[in-house]
Amino acid sequence: MVLSSPKPRAFLCRRFTESVEAALRKRYDLRINENDSILSPDDIVKSAQGSQVLFASATEQINESVLRQLSPRLRYVATLSVGYDHINTAVAQELGIGVLHTPDVLSDACSEIAMMLMLNACRRGYEADRMVRSGSWTGWSPTQLLGIGLKGKRVVVFGMGRIGQEIATRARAFGMEIHYHNRRRLPPEQEAGASYHADLDEAMQVADIFVIAAPGSAQLKGIINAERIARLPARAVIVNISRGELVDDDALIHALTGGRVFAAGLDVFANEPNVDPRYRELDNVFLSPHLGSATQETRDAMGMLLVDGLDALYQGRTPSNVLIPR
Ligand code: DGY
Repeated sequence: MVLSSPKPRAFLCRRFTESVEAALRKRYDLRINENDSILSPDDIVKSAQGSQVLFASATEQINESVLRQLSPRLRYVATLSVGYDHINTAVAQELGIGVLHTPDVLSDACSEIAMMLMLNACRRGYEADRMVRSGSWTGWSPTQLLGIGLKGKRVVVFGMGRIGQEIATRARAFGMEIHYHNRRRLPPEQEAGASYHADLDEAMQVADIFVIAAPGSAQLKGIINAERIARLPARAVIVNISRGELVDDDALIHALTGGRVFAAGLDVFANEPNVDPRYRELDNVFLSPHLGSATQETRDAMGMLLVDGLDALYQGRTPSNVLIPR
């Protein structure tokens, strides 16, 4: 589909998948950050001058200055992420800039990563891999690398949105008891037998495994702090697929070092990609580089959701993935 002639100018801050870029080229006069580097706000402003659409991702800070300098030409910001804590949506709204994101299509992929982290943290995936790879494995032993089994354990999902519910579905299949903390209690069909805790502190007290799936936001910064971590049962496991900023790193590292927390599985970090170096030294942390939605089919689907959403907007319809309408 061609939106109009001449095609609207658009700037792509990161390289998207081949099929998504092909769809974008058909519709837009597309400028691309060819080398896929992470652009500063100033670089975005320089490169995206004159664009009607800005395609971004969670690595770009679409702050007030970016939006004001690209306005009034800029009509839409389309982010290849479900999270939008990197976009100043209040200013976008004030300037009449529409914002689109990519919910739903990544819930399966992100919940799979949560299970990967959970299994690797509980079953000591990092140490196991290293033992075999380094040649230091001397053979099977009855007491080697004993971990924690998932069956019968209580998992607390913090943030029972679409991704949280998919995590619960998978955890249920592993025989786990599902608990959750959310701003609002879910209706029974979505809750599917899970126990609701209106109070986060109370939820943490029952968490053999605590999974952070709440959306990133300034209000939740540092919410998983020393005091809350101290509420977890002994030998609890923490998994984070949300945003690193929700966790107080000093507190988590202290708890991991002292054995208060058995292990952690982390896919997200404060100040990515500059991971707190102390995590790298810990054997009881399984680390992955923000891979939540990183499957070919998911990244294609995320990109096409933005493409289709913008097509709809240019035709005067409102797609379901609009955060801020224009
Ligand atoms: C998201 O979609 O928000 C993921 O964290 C990738 O940025």
